[in-house]
Amino acid sequence: MSPQLFPVGGSPAAVDADAVVIGLVSGESDAPPRLAPGADELDAAFEGQLVELLAVAGATGKADEVVKLPTRGALRAPLLVAVGLGKEGEGLRPEQVRRASGAAARALAGTDHAVSTLGRADRAALAAAAEGSLLGAYAFTTYRTNGNRKAPLARLSLATDAADADEVLRTAAAVSEAVRTARDLVNTPPNDLYPETFAARARELAEAAGLEVEVLDDAALAEGGFGGVLGVGQGSSRKPRLVRLRWAGGPAPRAKVALVGKGITFDTGGISIKPAANMDHMTSDMSGAAAVIATTVLAATLELPVAVTATVPMAENMPSDTAYRPGDVLRMYGGRTVEVLNTDAEGRLILADAIVRAGEDSPDYLIETSTLTGAQMVALGMRTMGIMGEDGFRDRIAALARECGEDGWAMPLPEHIRADLDSRVADLANVTGQRWGGMLVAGTFLREFVPDGLAWAHLDIAGPSFHTGSPYGYTTKGGTGVPVRTLVAVLQDIAANG
Ligand code: BES
Ligand code: MN
Ligand code: ZN
Repeated sequence: MSPQLFPVGGSPAAVDADAVVIGLVSGESDAPPRLAPGADELDAAFEGQLVELLAVAGATGKADEVVKLPTRGALRAPLLVAVGLGKEGEGLRPEQVRRASGAAARALAGTDHAVSTLGRADRAALAAAAEGSLLGAYAFTTYRTNGNRKAPLARLSLATDAADADEVLRTAAAVSEAVRTARDLVNTPPNDLYPETFAARARELAEAAGLEVEVLDDAALAEGGFGGVLGVGQGSSRKPRLVRLRWAGGPAPRAKVALVGKGITFDTGGISIKPAANMDHMTSDMSGAAAVIATTVLAATLELPVAVTATVPMAENMPSDTAYRPGDVLRMYGGRTVEVLNTDAEGRLILADAIVRAGEDSPDYLIETSTLTGAQMVALGMRTMGIMGEDGFRDRIAALARECGEDGWAMPLPEHIRADLDSRVADLANVTGQRWGGMLVAGTFLREFVPDGLAWAHLDIAGPSFHTGSPYGYTTKGGTGVPVRTLVAVLQDIAANG
């Protein structure tokens, strides 16, 4: 359950809560921290000594720091929680507020009701505080039988003077819910989430939001000639699916957007099998699909004036006597042929089918996202997605990704790479003969299936979609929900600007 949010006007000192959350900004070099805006009445209740008291307790204001102080009757709440925002640039960025709110929410597990001042500065801060709190309080407990973990924070009052606070919180809650849905899907283990059950969950989520749903099973995929999805899926007893969801965009849609997401429910590598170390990470190889499904549902919830069609190929990549092999030639949807030289480069094969299908709707924009290459992590690390595609659209998305706090960076698709994908027997090979620039190679392969002239982008989220380290900010262990917030930011931007 996610915490319930309530906007509260007036002094946060007057709220009857179990804890009060304030922000601390790091001082320059050795200077003491300062209070973030919104805590004046609380400081007054401590006779202006709040920073000094917190500094005695070791507070510096650095990001992710949480310092707890008993209030001994100075406030109605018995506990004050000071959370670090880090250094201030030109004002506090919403992402600083989002992360601090996430850290506070994690520290408040087991608490019933808290009041936070972190969103008090303006609407952007309020939205960030709400999102960070809801995401930081996320816990995936479906498979835990021992009840000895602390329950997430149940209720959060957000101090605010915004006239439209309800509306801001509604939107923030909807966005956070979509991220949480994507996380849930990613965190569901592959023995329970496989193409058939994944498609059923997509259908449930979509129908509840009033979307049109179409699910192609393996017979329908064969009928339609989806050779990429079928080839990759044929090694598993769990048969592949292709899911299509459609939000019509209300009475006057501004543009038509196609979303495509990689839905490999588990990637063993197939006959080109992966090493055992960390193979469990491949439960997250459907993160792109999860994000696309959650975003399309969100577009309907927010009633965005953009028509959105999701095309989501789902398959399990297994080695078996029925598996596709290195050397096989697949006939993709639309008729082009691909020689499989490595069965572990399976994502691009199911995506090629999906991109061609999505292109048939003549969208104005096409965004595809996938946990496509280990090379993404080598190039950009675990927190920055690689964004490729048509130059203008790619740069627009990269800027929006950074703005919403899901880091992204534009990457090129150099022309010379295409020749490395020439095949001895087919139109195209699925890998090159060398190891360099693997992320760009995969993007170049996908580009072959995108209709000419279409504004398109490919978001490689191999690293950022799954977090294996300790929690930080609002990022919990496991599925992160990346790139849901980027995708919705792009849809909102298209709704506003075309
Ligand atoms: N799903 C993997 C990519 C991946 C690796 C995602 C690690 C997240 C973490 C993808 O299907 C894959 O196996 N890619 C290969 C491509 C190679 C065979 C050209 C890779 O990156 O090694
Ligand atoms: Mn693979
Ligand atoms: Zn994969």
